[in-house]
Amino acid sequence: IPVDPFDLVIFGGTGDLAMRKLLPALFRRDADGQIPATARILGLARTDQDTESFKAEARAALHKHVAVDELDSIALERFIERLSYLHIDVTDARAWGELVSYLNERPEHIRVYYLAVGPALFGPIAQGLAQVGLATTKARLVVEKPLGHDLASAMTLNRELSSVFNEKSIYRIDHYLGKETVQNLMALRFANALFEPLWNANRIDHVQITASESLGVGTRGSYYDTAGAIRDMVQNHLVQLLCLLAMEPPYKFDADALRDEKLKVLRSLRPITGRNVLTNTVRGQYLAHGPDAPSYLQEVGNPDSKTESYVAIKAEIDNWRWSGVPFYLRTGKKLRAQMTEIAVVFKEPAHSVFGDLETPSMPNVLSIRLQPDEGLQLVIMTKDPGPGGFRLRAIPLDMTFAEGRGSNWRMPDAYERLLMDVVRGNQTLFMRGDEVEAAWRWIDPIIEAWEASGLRPEGYDPGSRGPIAAVEMMARDGRRWREIE
Ligand code: BG6
Repeated sequence: IPVDPFDLVIFGGTGDLAMRKLLPALFRRDADGQIPATARILGLARTDQDTESFKAEARAALHKHVAVDELDSIALERFIERLSYLHIDVTDARAWGELVSYLNERPEHIRVYYLAVGPALFGPIAQGLAQVGLATTKARLVVEKPLGHDLASAMTLNRELSSVFNEKSIYRIDHYLGKETVQNLMALRFANALFEPLWNANRIDHVQITASESLGVGTRGSYYDTAGAIRDMVQNHLVQLLCLLAMEPPYKFDADALRDEKLKVLRSLRPITGRNVLTNTVRGQYLAHGPDAPSYLQEVGNPDSKTESYVAIKAEIDNWRWSGVPFYLRTGKKLRAQMTEIAVVFKEPAHSVFGDLETPSMPNVLSIRLQPDEGLQLVIMTKDPGPGGFRLRAIPLDMTFAEGRGSNWRMPDAYERLLMDVVRGNQTLFMRGDEVEAAWRWIDPIIEAWEASGLRPEGYDPGSRGPIAAVEMMARDGRRWREIE
């Protein structure tokens, strides 16, 4: 379904996010016929270049990030024609004038301002837009993490943005919410009668949320070392997944109804402070592996860094539904495989009628896989067929999303969905300011307690499952992590 005509202005138009994610996503939506003929895309950056060289850069980026069989030449040329470039220094009043003239050519268009720049520029750009009259009711402002470094800075940022834009015009992206499997989690919970009665502390033993990456921090060391796994992945992506999994059913699938429910989960997270941090969290840092695989410390160029490239947290939700059900979160770089998964582990049957079998019963597990092979799997126990004894066998009921879609089918990238939602004015998959603050309110004391402890993260071998202490944390609870594969 085509969206309404729009002008999308990308501040930081020549940056990595624009080239790697935004332009490819827009191209794909365009190639699919979702973008109206008059829509335009304007790249803004400090680089002194003209529209022609920006187009050449965009073309190269599309060749790099979009599969050859998707790059239909007619669609590519049509897309490139939508692009323009403006060299801008946001502190220079004259440059804002050029932006105004460009946008005023199409006054009827929806205006989207995507701030693909560092957070220090969010406030000044929002102010600049307001001063030249561009913060209109038709405008939408898109920002992405880091949305603050802690609660105080997140509150300052929210204040800066909301002094110019109404909350209804601010789109805070967490790209995990745009992933198809994550949206499927909501379909699974709220469009099936089967799961909801089981979705509570009576039936669920615990939940594991894993985002394991095989790559290291690479060239992003200077940013990453100020953030660490907790700010880079947990405060946003993993906590958002936890909210969708744990929230009460919203009264309808509407932005505020859903975000109200997520907020309640965030407020129910049991604080992890002081000494609890040693039992409920584990931090790790990857070690070197020969001359070609530098350690975390070498990669970020800071031999004293205590920043974690791995974190595991036992989170507890103090409410009626989840009392006593731990949510174990873990994420890390340079682990043994690339795997993002939510696993809901059910309780064992109340009584084992089969007695001592050779093959014991296993708990039912519902796994929701974000990557690779996006899909759902429900492990159930069955009888191993055959006339022999009575042996139990765990069988997965499998639903891989790509299956049955044909070989050309491609899982849409999160940004495709999210960018079109911005144009449509649908905030359901975007974070509200109060949610971001509530997440920091839970995260800040953890970081403070780590700092107060003075302890270093535990080293782990690249390609491993992470620090031993994380295995021990689970073992203390009589549980095991799911395999990373
Ligand atoms: C980003 C983090 O937000 O998410 C990266 O900054 C991380 O460090 C990435 O690699 C993971 O995203 P995905 O979509 O590959 O799981």
